[in-house]
Amino acid sequence: MTMRVAVAASGRGSNLEALLRTLRPGAPARVVLVLSDRAGAGARTLARSHGVPTQVFADPARPEEWLAPLDRAQADLVVLAGYLKLVPAGVIDRYRGRIVNIHPALLPAFGGRGMYGRRVHEAVLASGARESGATVHLVDEVYDRGEVLARARVPVLADDDPDGLAARVLEVEHRLLPAVVLAAARAGRPVPIPEPVESHP
Ligand code: GRF
Repeated sequence: MTMRVAVAASGRGSNLEALLRTLRPGAPARVVLVLSDRAGAGARTLARSHGVPTQVFADPARPEEWLAPLDRAQADLVVLAGYLKLVPAGVIDRYRGRIVNIHPALLPAFGGRGMYGRRVHEAVLASGARESGATVHLVDEVYDRGEVLARARVPVLADDDPDGLAARVLEVEHRLLPAVVLAAARAGRPVPIPEPVESHP
């Protein structure tokens, strides 16, 4: 049985693109719906070019606005791929254990409210950490707190700036997120996967 995946995205959608590229016909999962809080999100253009229906929330805090399209699409899994707002509690209740998020740092460090986008990488650089990476985790009521399913590491280089570090992390995100979704499809639900070994330069 094919796992039906809904993706929520607020921005350009490069992680959505990585999923669409991996989840070709014949794959055990496919993207059936893209949800967004922003009508102009690049993720929506991408979805449309792949024939995937999209839905824009009038008010992303209202659970019905999620649940109606998720039900219609018969979604088994919800993937937050650059979705910046809090998922309403009513949605988390209904899809508990079936919502995953990708975060551009090694959680539990550098996560939580306000830690998104460039700010994450600025904080990593300011801390003097020698490595960063990406984390995929289950979503619960608190930002970035749910069970970690997978991590991928990248080195922080001496002359890094936030954009350079973000780009290095994004590359591993594009492998990590599809790997988690494929593993979930094979297992029938999101499961932890072992950490890939990254080759440090
Ligand atoms: C990624 O870095 C993701 O980890 C974070 O937001 C960014 C989204 O990028 N949550 P994109 O829209 O998938 O290109």
